[in-house]
Amino acid sequence: MLDQASSSALIEKLQWRYATKKFDAAKIVSAEKVESILEAARLAPTSSGLQPFQVIVVTNKDIRAKLQAASYGQAQVTEASHLLVFAAWDNYTDARIDDVVTRTAADRGAPIEAVAEYYNNLKGMYLPRPADVNYEHAARQAYIAFGLALAQAAFEGVDATPMEGFDPAQVDEILGLKAHGLRSVTLLPIGYRAAEGDWLKDLPKVRKSRADLIVEVK
Ligand SMILES: Cc1cc2nc3c(=O)[nH]c(=O)nc-3n(C[C@H](O)[C@H](O)[C@H](O)COP(=O)(O)O)c2cc1C
Repeated sequence: MLDQASSSALIEKLQWRYATKKFDAAKIVSAEKVESILEAARLAPTSSGLQPFQVIVVTNKDIRAKLQAASYGQAQVTEASHLLVFAAWDNYTDARIDDVVTRTAADRGAPIEAVAEYYNNLKGMYLPRPADVNYEHAARQAYIAFGLALAQAAFEGVDATPMEGFDPAQVDEILGLKAHGLRSVTLLPIGYRAAEGDWLKDLPKVRKSRADLIVEVK
């Protein structure tokens, strides 16, 4: 039976959350809540289970000041308690896919060869493609984790701002992502909304109606 209480709890939190414009810089998110938000990202489903991204947790003030400058000055980057950076693989490689094969075989107690067959087919499709195509595919997977982390933050009563408003080349440079074969995709500052000074805080949500969004094919 549908659990009405818990199914509506997430919806209530999604109504409560908003793209926070001003954080209270004095309020710090507890380590437990940060971990639960990161765990939602870790548990996100991804195409073929590749998890082709990393989540970087930035608390360093100097680095965050540089990242703010690379984000058109958006204050959430420095004023939030923690800054999560979602960064996707810049390409698929033999080694990256082999790592998934090894872990899948280990976690499921299956022979490597049984798992490798599927991933060898995947390599045949992915490795010849241009790096940009593979990056875009990886970035789409990162967005799933980003969305779940955003929802989990709301579930925990933690404010967050989903952000694409930054210069990815600059963010990559500041965090040294290229050396790790990564490219920044999105930012997620998390923290607690400021009591004053946020123009968006009390405005109603703007969303399409159900009729405009949902198409039913019966
Ligand atoms: C992928 C993505 C990128 C966004 N980039 C920014 C951003 O750079 N700065 C910002 O303040 N809000 C940003 N937003 C917030 C959206 O404007 C906001 O989510 C949308 O207007 C809906 O409002 P709500 O989140 O308050 O419900 C972004 C949202 C998403 C999903």
